[in-house]
Amino acid sequence: MCGIIGVVGGNQVGLDLVEGLKKMEYRGYDSAGIALQEGATFRLFRELGHVVNLEKSVEFDGKETIGIGHTRWATHGQVSVRNTHPHLSYDGAFAIVHNGVIENYKELRQELMDYGVPFASETDTEVIVNLIAFFYHQHPESLQATLLRAQHKLQGIYSFVLMAQAEPNVLYALRNRAPLLIGHKPGAYYVASDMLAMAQHTKQFYFLDDGEMARLTFDHCEIYRPDGTLVHKQPLTIDIPSSDVDKGPYEHYMLKEIHEQPFVLRRILSKYADDGVLKLDPIIIQALLEADSIQIIACGTSYHAGLVGKLLFEKVARKKTEVHIASEFSYQTPLLSEKPVFLLISQSGETADLRLSLDKIKELRRPVFTITNVMGSTLAREADAALLLYAGPEIAVASTKAYTAQISVLALLAQSLSTEGNLVHELTKIGFYMEEVLALETPIKTLVERLLDHAHNAFYLGRGIDYALSLEAALKLKEISYLQAEGFPSGELKHGPIALIEKDTPVFGIITQLSTALATRANLEEVRARGARTATIVLSSFKKPDDDLVLPDCHPLLTPMLTAIVVQYIAYYAAILKGTNVDKPRNLAKSVTVE
Ligand code: F6R
Repeated sequence: MCGIIGVVGGNQVGLDLVEGLKKMEYRGYDSAGIALQEGATFRLFRELGHVVNLEKSVEFDGKETIGIGHTRWATHGQVSVRNTHPHLSYDGAFAIVHNGVIENYKELRQELMDYGVPFASETDTEVIVNLIAFFYHQHPESLQATLLRAQHKLQGIYSFVLMAQAEPNVLYALRNRAPLLIGHKPGAYYVASDMLAMAQHTKQFYFLDDGEMARLTFDHCEIYRPDGTLVHKQPLTIDIPSSDVDKGPYEHYMLKEIHEQPFVLRRILSKYADDGVLKLDPIIIQALLEADSIQIIACGTSYHAGLVGKLLFEKVARKKTEVHIASEFSYQTPLLSEKPVFLLISQSGETADLRLSLDKIKELRRPVFTITNVMGSTLAREADAALLLYAGPEIAVASTKAYTAQISVLALLAQSLSTEGNLVHELTKIGFYMEEVLALETPIKTLVERLLDHAHNAFYLGRGIDYALSLEAALKLKEISYLQAEGFPSGELKHGPIALIEKDTPVFGIITQLSTALATRANLEEVRARGARTATIVLSSFKKPDDDLVLPDCHPLLTPMLTAIVVQYIAYYAAILKGTNVDKPRNLAKSVTVE
């Protein structure tokens, strides 16, 4: 979703802003802009489309010492230059960039218009900057007090960065439930919604909490609580190696991230297991052991990892587990057992639907933990404790390495609750098997060309754990190739979906469990008899001569770690075939910070 950045100090503010915006492109956006301030003058540059368009139009004169920038993912108002951030207040005295949604913006806009305040855009952002300007005219003595007044009026999820004519070398940054953090290097402060936008400049970060406001100059950072009192914070040192954010030799980030999966798995094992002995946070393990059920809450791909997690917890640890879609849970809290423990799974740690679920969970006063890839993310900080995925930044919008990382961590958690079995050892072997599956890239590409070339839809079939994987497979395919794709429990086919099968419909069968292999093969026969083009993805111990993709045998609960790579490749090569934008598919954002 939208990315925001502000820079004060240093000797290349304009360049830092553009580079920072580029680093946030992966989040998804449809227009971009920056504002530079020199004395009391703002220079505004805004363009539709990619940051390179903006880069061409920005004129730096090297004298800039302060500026703000934004990538916009349209929510309020269409994609147009006048809706693109930064926005100036009606009197031209303030410039703002904003991320999030102001829920009461219509009422506030009307109130301001009743006082004669004009509006130039359709955005909720303009309401913030006009409200600030309006209050400042009423009480011009203190900008800080003005921001606090505005903060009390604004409802919703938002963070913003503001520059004021009255204070030419100061950035104001305010966070309310939308990500915002500060980076520091000698002679400059950065503020952004995404650490990656600043990671090339600094390893020192200050995290803002909800309601906090920062006042930044080139050599000073003051952070205030909503009641106006000062907060003293220590910076956290976080190092993001540049190889984590570069594409390396790969054509797309998605391909790079697919290939990184064995490495990520090994890193997870090195963090959470010592010579085969598990060392996960004992507080989390104790809470899980004492709970009478585990409630997993997540969205999209993370939800699909949660479905595998349920099987792991129930089969390995005999612990009753339920999996909920966050956007449903937050509105219709289901009937729960007496002593549940909650696990939020979120690659980004910022997903708005999960934050709303967390609000509900906090009312229940039960333990809640986050499994996330982003250290210091909101969900990591707001839960009782967090387990990191250690997958490194995931830049491609379609999640790949975070999914297998989530399953790995869930497997280690499940194993920590049981004395039987040895999933640590099994996972160690998976790293090698993943490398074998990665080597199937060319046959998978050929299969995609054969099955999906003229396709307008596709189906994945599986049972049990293979059904959970089928859902993820279909999501991946639709996200980046835009093919209509569905995952079905193969036994359900004849209860309806089989009506969709016609000549040449592509159907992939995932067969990794001995107990269901025959049944799924029979279901594939049924669709083949109706003209479908089928392909099988099977484990080597029960392969048949005409199977299409054969994977190494592994522990039956860890097969998604291997089949995931196959379906990620299928989606990737389908997208290449269709010529879509693999890393930045249309309409999607990496971190979904609005409901
Ligand atoms: C799909 C994908 C999304 C995310 C979902 C949740 O490839 O990436 O479905 O999984 O938006 O995001 P997180 O895990 O950040 O909460």
